Amino acid sequence: MLPRFPSKLSLASLPSPLRPLSRLSAHIGGPRIWLKSDDLSGSTLSGNKVRKLEFTLAAALEAGCDTLITCGGLQSNHCRATAILAARLGLKVHLILRGDPPDHLDGNHLLDALVGAQISIYPAKQYHHELDALFEHWQQHYQNLGSKVWCVPTGASDGWGLWGYLNASIELQNDFERHGIEPEYVICATGSGGTQAGLSLGFALQQTSTQVLGMAVCDDAAYFKNKAEHDIREWAALLDRDDYARCAPALENLNVQTNDAYIGPGYARAYPEALETIKLLARLEGEILDPVYTGKAFYGMLNEIKKGSFEHCSDLVFVHTGGIFGVFPFRDELQRTLNQNALFTGVENA
Ligand SMILES: Cc1ncc(COP(=O)(O)O)c(C=O)c1O
Repeated sequence: MLPRFPSKLSLASLPSPLRPLSRLSAHIGGPRIWLKSDDLSGSTLSGNKVRKLEFTLAAALEAGCDTLITCGGLQSNHCRATAILAARLGLKVHLILRGDPPDHLDGNHLLDALVGAQISIYPAKQYHHELDALFEHWQQHYQNLGSKVWCVPTGASDGWGLWGYLNASIELQNDFERHGIEPEYVICATGSGGTQAGLSLGFALQQTSTQVLGMAVCDDAAYFKNKAEHDIREWAALLDRDDYARCAPALENLNVQTNDAYIGPGYARAYPEALETIKLLARLEGEILDPVYTGKAFYGMLNEIKKGSFEHCSDLVFVHTGGIFGVFPFRDELQRTLNQNALFTGVENA
């Protein structure tokens, strides 16, 4: 009961690999853990964003837009991915970034500048209070210059972006069939909610038994339930009447599951167990997680395995959503972790 898809650009290198993390699974005991490597999704390691932007930017081009405006934190992976894709498509891009102007360019912010994005940085308080007004201000600015603007919301999580991870759920289902597995859970970091919502929607529409669990890196479970419902309503409004009628029954039973116990001190604030998890996975599997999203989500998954929450499961799939360039601004915290003994049991300090 899948709907017809809208147009999409071909910007990602897909399908991304799915592989078992055999050494890690043996190390921790419990279910087999698989990694879906969306960090390798193409367009300069753009991670989960390129899947959403393939649909968003197709809609923007169809609407005749030549300028994108989007927003996020100073080290936003989403803003960097949008800036790189805009350069690739010959579009102008303006980034509304949250934070304090840094002494030097680093990580994602450095890449934003390198590809020629226009960047405005606002203090967190102003950003939170005035985001809508800032979008309006810059939209007006570019319209006055004769440009046509498409505004991409935080993380490209809206009705358009959802198609990206709905599409990914079909790719994952093909992966599962190829490997002969029926994973009980697909687990991902959740920040603006679109990855989790798209996957939840996709598996519900395919009527498979696989459930989706979002590990929150900001905001609580109630927020993500509302956000997913809002984005899915937006997505549904893009369907024609026949497609909507076919999809509606699955929408009614959709279950958005979020674990919000692993945010730690706050968004983009690293904590020791997440940093240890990054070290563990790097050494056991040669996979690099990041301290803002995937490191916290992966730690959450491992800790829930340890607590017995997945006792009934045979296979878990973790979606590696990217974030490699956000690792470098955490060089001090990571260096301290490298110099320390393991902080929690079951982790080797190789
Ligand atoms: C590396 C990484 N992982 C996960 C996420 C969360 O995805 P979403 O915003 O779709 O919830 C983000 C989003 O910003 C991200 O950059």
